[in-house]
Amino acid sequence: MAKEIKNILVVGAGVMGCAIAQVFAANGYHTVMADLKEEFLENAQKRINANIEGMKEENLADDSYGKAVEANLSTILNSQIPEHAQRFDLVVEVIFENKEAKHDLYKILSDNCRPDCIFASNTSGMDVFSVTEDIMKHPERLIITHWFNPPHLMKIIEVVKGPKTSDETAETVRALLEACGKKPAVLNKFMPGFIVNRMATVICRELYYMVEQGWVSPRDAENALKYTDGLRWSFEGPLELWDFVGLEIPIAVASGVMPTLCSRTDSIPLGEKLIAEGKTGVRAGEGMLGKYPSDVDAYIKKRNKRIVAMYKMMNQFEAEDEAE
Ligand SMILES: NC(=O)c1ccc[n+]([C@@H]2O[C@H](COP(=O)([O-])OP(=O)(O)OC[C@H]3O[C@@H](n4cnc5c(N)ncnc54)[C@H](O)[C@@H]3O)[C@@H](O)[C@H]2O)c1
Repeated sequence: MAKEIKNILVVGAGVMGCAIAQVFAANGYHTVMADLKEEFLENAQKRINANIEGMKEENLADDSYGKAVEANLSTILNSQIPEHAQRFDLVVEVIFENKEAKHDLYKILSDNCRPDCIFASNTSGMDVFSVTEDIMKHPERLIITHWFNPPHLMKIIEVVKGPKTSDETAETVRALLEACGKKPAVLNKFMPGFIVNRMATVICRELYYMVEQGWVSPRDAENALKYTDGLRWSFEGPLELWDFVGLEIPIAVASGVMPTLCSRTDSIPLGEKLIAEGKTGVRAGEGMLGKYPSDVDAYIKKRNKRIVAMYKMMNQFEAEDEAE
């Protein structure tokens, strides 16, 4: 059974942490954000204000959203965590992706928080369960919640159970995230790449392979997916698509395709080649799809606007489905 969560500590107020704290505070949870220095907390507050302004401009938030964040969000320094630790029902860890730093922090948390406090790591891929094995007093309350950037807009959160994580912990975290309007996807076993990055690896390994073999150009390969799956995936994912088509056809097609797929497990050679040539993507000015404009900020701005547009579209589809 899910436990009630009221008081949340978010440790690490960087790119991800500040917006994660914002989401909890906006949804009425008493949220404390912690970081190493006051100036990091001040910057985090500025980023939260900018996020809220951006949401208001897009009609994704009204005044009450900002007021809820203001009323429910406070800050402390990391050095103050021990004296406040007993208050928290949940601690979300959003610090650097560094084993030693995470290990040291979990020792402080495990030693000072209540025995029933849940710990959720936002690690992108680290096996925090092994990293903290020697210090966690209650490993059944440790779980991964992997948010996507920007956390206040991206609804999916991968929730990953460790070998000892209890069902109650997973249920509590799922219920909390759903109450915040998110779409948690629970993975019952820690697997590299979780769900989203595993699938990205499968798709891109094959696309890079097809380009490397000279079978297709990068742009045509990109378009083939953009104008089929790209069009549909906001309302019908790959599993529903196969259900829609009727499983006999795609399963038969797959049996012919599978023996010809790339099965390399060591590297993606064309990716390695591009890296060696400095063509690592948008920020380098050139990547797999060729040259990019030098104004990276403008590129990011345009991209963010499109994410917001699709976010609104998906909300509309969800509302339609719920009304049925
Ligand atoms: N940036 C992304 O797109 C993204 C997406 C998903 C997951 N993540 C994961 O989220 C976590 C944070 O990433 P981020 O991009 O917000 O990083 P970031 O560098 O922007 O922020 C990290 C913050 O943690 C703070 N911090 C607090 N206590 C710390 C401690 N004890 N040791 C070290 N740093 C401490 C730092 O001062 C900094 O403000 C990482 O585990 C990362 O892998 C990042």
